[in-house]
Amino acid sequence: MGGSLDGSVVIVTGGARGIGREYALGVAREGGKVVVADLLDGEPVVAEIEALGGEALAVTTDVSDEASNDAMAAATIDRFGRIDVLINNAAMFSETTRGPFHELTIAEWDRTFEVNVRGVWLACKAVYPQMSAQGSGKIINIASNTLYKGTTGFLHYVASKSALIGLSRSLATELGPEGITVNTVSPDLIPNPDLRPTDETSDKFVVAGRALKRTMVAEDMVGTIVFLCTRGSDFITGQALVVNGGAYYQ
Ligand SMILES: NC(=O)c1ccc[n+]([C@@H]2O[C@H](COP(=O)([O-])OP(=O)(O)OC[C@H]3O[C@@H](n4cnc5c(N)ncnc54)[C@H](O)[C@@H]3O)[C@@H](O)[C@H]2O)c1
Repeated sequence: MGGSLDGSVVIVTGGARGIGREYALGVAREGGKVVVADLLDGEPVVAEIEALGGEALAVTTDVSDEASNDAMAAATIDRFGRIDVLINNAAMFSETTRGPFHELTIAEWDRTFEVNVRGVWLACKAVYPQMSAQGSGKIINIASNTLYKGTTGFLHYVASKSALIGLSRSLATELGPEGITVNTVSPDLIPNPDLRPTDETSDKFVVAGRALKRTMVAEDMVGTIVFLCTRGSDFITGQALVVNGGAYYQ
C-alpha cells in the first residue's frame, strides 16, 4: 500500500456494497484506513481490503439512529485514534419505493428522510467532537444527479438528496472556522440491474442525454472521492460537484 491517503482514517457509511464498497476499496488503495459502517455486514469488504494489504474495520451502523452513529465514531477512534474523513454514502436508494408522488405513503417519505437527511446530520454530529479536537476533517455527502435533472418517479428520494445541498453549504459555513470542510458529490445513474432491474431501461435514456456516451460505473466516482479525501482539496468547501459524464438532459 502507500499513496495519497497514507495515515488517513476514512469512514464510509453504506460501504458494504455498491458504490460505497468502491469508495472503501479506492481509499484503501491510496493507503487510507477504512471504516465500513453499514446496516449490512461489512466484513467481506474488510477482507478484500486486508487482502490488498490495507487496514479496515467493519462497524454495524444504522445511520438514522443517534446512538448507533456515536458507537460508529467511538469504534473508529478506539481502533485508529482519529477521524479524517466521513463519506456519507448510506441511503435509502435501492430499497426506495418508486412511483407517482401522490401514491407515496407518509411512512415511505419519513423513512427516506430519516436515513438520507437525518442520517447525514447524525453522522456529522457523531464525528464532530473528534474532528473539532483535531482542528481538521472532511465531510463528503453523496447527493444525486436526479436533483439537478428533476427526475420523476421517486419524489421523496430526490427531495431528500436536494436537502443535502443546503445542509452541506450551511455546515461548511459553520465548521469552516474549525478547519472542517463539507462538500457534496452527485453521481448520475450507476446501474445495478441485480438490485434494480429497471436501471437497464433507464440507462439507455441516461446515456443518450450525456456527452460521454457510455454507462457510468462505480469506478467513475472513485477519483473524485479520493481527491476530496486528500490534502489537495483542503481549500474546497461548501461546493456541490457533479460526476455525470456531461449529462445535458434527463
Ligand atoms: N446507483 C446510482 O445510480 C446512484 C445515483 C446517484 C446517487 N446515488 C447515491 O449513491 C449512494 C450509494 O448508492 P448505491 O447504488 O451503492 O446504493 P445501494 O442501495 O446499493 O447501497 C446503499 C448502502 O447503504 C446502506 N444503508 C441503507 N440504509 C442504511 C442505514 N440506515 N444505515 C447504514 N447503512 C445503510 C445499504 O445497506 C447499502 O449498503 C447512495 O447515497 C445513493 O443515493 C446512487
